[in-house]
Amino acid sequence: MATPSWEGQRSMNPNKALWEKGDFTRIAASMRESGEALVAGLGITAGMKVLDLGCGDGTTALPAARLGADVLGVDIASNLVEAGNRRAQAEGLKNCRFQEGDATNLSDLTDQRFDLVVSIFGAMFAPKPFDVAREMVRVTRPGGRIVMGNWIPNDPTLVAQILKISSAYSPPPPEGFVSPMTWGIEGNVIERFAAAGIPAEKIAFSRDTYTFRSPGTPSAFVADFRNYYGPTMNAFAAAEQNGKAADLQKELEVLFERQNRSETGDATSIPATFLRVTVGP
Ligand SMILES: C[S@@+](CC[C@H](N)C(=O)[O-])C[C@H]1O[C@@H](n2cnc3c(N)ncnc32)[C@H](O)[C@@H]1O
Repeated sequence: MATPSWEGQRSMNPNKALWEKGDFTRIAASMRESGEALVAGLGITAGMKVLDLGCGDGTTALPAARLGADVLGVDIASNLVEAGNRRAQAEGLKNCRFQEGDATNLSDLTDQRFDLVVSIFGAMFAPKPFDVAREMVRVTRPGGRIVMGNWIPNDPTLVAQILKISSAYSPPPPEGFVSPMTWGIEGNVIERFAAAGIPAEKIAFSRDTYTFRSPGTPSAFVADFRNYYGPTMNAFAAAEQNGKAADLQKELEVLFERQNRSETGDATSIPATFLRVTVGP
């Protein structure tokens, strides 16, 4: 049998395919304010070497670069890497660049290279969480910090609920699949970093909030997820096969309407809780 080409093997990586699907930049646009606020609280100073892992199109990478950090964004999705480089270029941010890479194996990056590794709803979506923890620790300099933002399983707020509803319409995951949401459980985080040589005392946890803001109605925002967000697109594809797409649409609309805090009828503002993990000195 002919060996598949390297390109062919790459395109078969379901993790990469999921995030290259659709256009995550359409969702990221609703997360910019919270991304900036989070970065503003990270104590970033000029010249600091920052890795944004699972950076998407730079919701946190660009604000870090605006503060003068030397930022590398790494993401598995080539379309998001391109979008990030375009955004950095448009702002004239020469200290911010994006490249393709996999959080489970950052072989392009030398040991102890970064003062700060940030991964906001990014590395949590990579498979092999123990490899991810090891790689994040390896590329962080001694005395440096890792900051992760992770969605929390069964949390009543937006993203955990979208993923929960979506999974009810999707086929069961393959055997051995580790849910990304386990990064939102403190015990799992401690175990993964312990295996990478980090004692529990060096890990701090807190609850924080990201607010999704969209100029349209909650139902228009649901449409953005349906049309552009890989995990929701896959859930709709599966639901369509079972004649359940209308049910999925309805459940998501009810969720988004219920969680909308916007005062004006035609806009959407939805807060979502996440687990903030800080690994550091
Ligand atoms: C929910 S998005 C968040 C993006 C960005 N951090 C933000 O806040 O907008 C998840 C990101 O993780 C990236 N990702 C998923 N698996 C990855 C992996 N194995 N290695 C690197 N990036 C990955 C996706 O391509 C996507 O950009």
